[in-house]
Amino acid sequence: MTEANDFDVLVIGSGAAGLTLALQLADDYRVALLSKSTLQAGSTWLAQGGIAAVLDPQDQFENHVNDTWIAGAKLSRPAAIDHTIRNGPEAIHWLIDQGVPFTQDQQGYHLTREGGHSHRRIIHAADATGRAVHETLIRNALAHKNIKVFEHHIAIDLITRRKLGMMNNRCVGAYVLNHQTGHVIAFKAPTVVLATGGASKAYLYTSNNDGTTGDGIAMAWRAGCRIANMEFNQFHPTCLYHPKAKSFLITEAVRGEGGLLLLPDGSRFMHKFDDRGELASRDIVARAIDHEMKRLGCDCVYLDISHRPPEFIKEHFPTIYERCLDFGIDITKEPIPVVPAAHYTCGGIITDQQGCTDIPGLYAIGETAFTGLHGANRLASNSLLECVVYGRSAAAHIRQQDLASYIDEDYLLPDWDESQVTDSDEDVIISHNWDELRRFMWDYVGIVRTSKRLERAMHRILLLKQEIADYYSNYKISRDLIELRNLATVAELIIVCAMQRRESRGLHFTQDYPTQAAESADTIVTPPNFCWPDAVRADETVATHSTV
Ligand code: FAD
Ligand code: SIN
Repeated sequence: MTEANDFDVLVIGSGAAGLTLALQLADDYRVALLSKSTLQAGSTWLAQGGIAAVLDPQDQFENHVNDTWIAGAKLSRPAAIDHTIRNGPEAIHWLIDQGVPFTQDQQGYHLTREGGHSHRRIIHAADATGRAVHETLIRNALAHKNIKVFEHHIAIDLITRRKLGMMNNRCVGAYVLNHQTGHVIAFKAPTVVLATGGASKAYLYTSNNDGTTGDGIAMAWRAGCRIANMEFNQFHPTCLYHPKAKSFLITEAVRGEGGLLLLPDGSRFMHKFDDRGELASRDIVARAIDHEMKRLGCDCVYLDISHRPPEFIKEHFPTIYERCLDFGIDITKEPIPVVPAAHYTCGGIITDQQGCTDIPGLYAIGETAFTGLHGANRLASNSLLECVVYGRSAAAHIRQQDLASYIDEDYLLPDWDESQVTDSDEDVIISHNWDELRRFMWDYVGIVRTSKRLERAMHRILLLKQEIADYYSNYKISRDLIELRNLATVAELIIVCAMQRRESRGLHFTQDYPTQAAESADTIVTPPNFCWPDAVRADETVATHSTV
């Protein structure tokens, strides 16, 4: 059964990016806000360290620009860096106006430090910044009469005019599964915003919770958008290593406040890899830990902050202190066992500075988007900043459009067709394929790659994709099936991008091409149904193209 829902703006995703955009537009537009589970789903709630911005008079935009450029291994797009960093302070003040309770001391807002930052510039709410931001924005969105919230609604695919056989391609809505009723609903809107977060669930070990299965990237790809730089999946160096602590992050701010990385024998090792030691950028620290773990055959390394006063630790890292204590680790007295885990998707749907994608009417913001800010490796705490800055600039762009002319368009979206499918009798295929995919991605497309491992991964993904496609066309849709299908697409995009990059840069390290090339470009993959040439912006025509 298909129900119809008409809105001015359909926002798919209720993290920092989606909420920012929804709140920016809600006074003047009817906004639908979707989350595939509760509003709190996704990575925003989990963010610990904080948000980077130039807020200290001693700091300057140029410093933050330079730190982002260096962390990104000189692949970032200068226009994206400039846009994000110069709009950073205003974005933070908007969050403060929304009511986010950032930590303050006698000097004002407390700024902490993280790897790759030359200055203290991370505004935070103790060690649970994401939760403070998310709670505030969710509260405000729920209070707004023009924002209609749809929890447990998972978008399956975008609807474009081209798919409907109409001229003047534009995204006009999405098919969405109401997870609780099992019904598929067609949402109609002249503006659709993908704010669906990243794809780190493609890996067996991740700091992310359920849901980051790259749905937005896969939907945009199927609809005809180009995707870039998927090889740059960021691995966070320090997730808690404990059999019961599934995906719990130990914020980089612990190292920013003096935490030391130690081998099992208690010796430091980071200075062997980078002069900045523990405060080297994330790609370097994660690779160093991976190297030492493999060299010594140990299960983890250790992060020690116990030399700082207990009151300082409990005040700055209350969440981590409590959580570790639950597992019998007192971080004021002993080091924390840590391992790297998949954390952040630097690549994504190609957008410009306003969040516009290749398809008119379709925007992408937050972790799902590729703005060019992060280059080959994201600088710590630049992600929430990007979510808020681009949430605001995409909203400003939407305001400039003549939405009324599209809203009046009088045509019905076709019903979701379930006539050819039956109930699944073998759900084990889905769970098996989920596990298999995430394991080979970890083993073959992880922190250290080789061409042979990538070929193996490609071979497997093609088999899996075939199996999933057969399953998808024969059985009724479910959340697990939607996510698995999307994961397979993003995994393939990651492998294709990784195969194209014949050098080691930032987060992509391959033993077959261990050095950084003198010249480099973004890895851009183009779907077979991409519309040439009017959607291509002038600055991108020189990049590498291929199809999956
Ligand atoms: P998310 O917050 O991930 O939200 C995605 C939303 O999309 C969710 O509502 C989800 O339900 C919805 N969704 C997804 N697919 C669908 C679908 N098919 N249909 C409907 N809804 C869908 N960054 C920083 O800058 N500073 C930090 O301190 C920091 N700490 C972090 C700590 C952890 C443990 C993690 C995992 C990440 C951290 N990051 C940090 C990264 C940052 O939190 C994320 O990049 C950012 O929150 C992403 O926000 P988003 O709005 O793009 O997506
Ligand atoms: C952290 O707190 O270490 C995460 C920060 C980030 O991902 O930017």
